[in-house]
Amino acid sequence: MTTPTLPTHPLSSATSSAFDHETVSLVIGGTSGIGRAVVEALQARPGRVIAAGRRTGLDISNETAVAAFMASLGGIDHVIVTAGSAAPGGPLIDLDLSAARSAFDTKFWGTVHVARQAARRLRPGGTLTLTSGVLARRPAPGSFVKSAMNAAIEATTLVLARELAPLRVNAISPGLTDTEAYASMAPQAREAMLAKAVAQLPAGRVGRPADIAAAVLYAIDNPFVTGSVIQVDGGAAIQ
Ligand SMILES: NC(=O)c1ccc[n+]([C@@H]2O[C@H](COP(=O)([O-])OP(=O)(O)OC[C@H]3O[C@@H](n4cnc5c(N)ncnc54)[C@H](OP(=O)(O)O)[C@@H]3O)[C@@H](O)[C@H]2O)c1
Repeated sequence: MTTPTLPTHPLSSATSSAFDHETVSLVIGGTSGIGRAVVEALQARPGRVIAAGRRTGLDISNETAVAAFMASLGGIDHVIVTAGSAAPGGPLIDLDLSAARSAFDTKFWGTVHVARQAARRLRPGGTLTLTSGVLARRPAPGSFVKSAMNAAIEATTLVLARELAPLRVNAISPGLTDTEAYASMAPQAREAMLAKAVAQLPAGRVGRPADIAAAVLYAIDNPFVTGSVIQVDGGAAIQ
């Protein structure tokens, strides 16, 4: 008697993103803040984790440099971009447009440079996880650069999730998260900003890098999640 061939169960399909010692993950922005927390979370799993940023010699505003760097890695399974937290604020009419363009060159165009290379190099079952920010959905006066840049990243995420399918593409949208991004603020001003957010946010606290990293892992791990913008903002978007 011959054994019938069973249909493949959906959960065992090639879209599974299980980690093994061959898994390669690249975290661009992994040298600080949220990206470093993603690196630490991935290092608890099997496989190789590469953290990149300017201090490791990679400036993502330079597409040629991004292409050469990613080519040097060979096959990649998961690419996470958290790079580029700096952006000028203030009313549009007073804005230093060269600083605004420079912020876009890093966070928006840098993300695009990485995404174009990831599209060529991700292995089957691979994921691309980008980072936007709550100001995309909850703009405020003086937030033009961050709001526009993050909204552009969210729109790019949705387009790429369709163009690159079955690779999966998602974005994480953090709210105020206590990282080195605020290191240049005067300590008192930083404490006041964080205390105000704790008082106002529905979650009653600000984000920690590990909170955002947990959402990155969710986007990587769940084979049914693509084209999603995952809000991890303590409720800021619904305030
Ligand atoms: N923290 C928040 O409250 C918050 C809120 C909403 C959204 N976000 C977003 O979350 C992401 C991470 O923010 P974070 O708070 O973790 O910031 P962070 O601590 O300042 O880290 C930013 C990272 O970007 C890298 N980077 C900056 N310019 C780069 C460039 N040209 N090329 C390559 N790497 C570059 C930095 O590394 P090097 O210095 O080595 O280049 C660093 O690893 C950013 O996209 C930010 O806009 C953060």
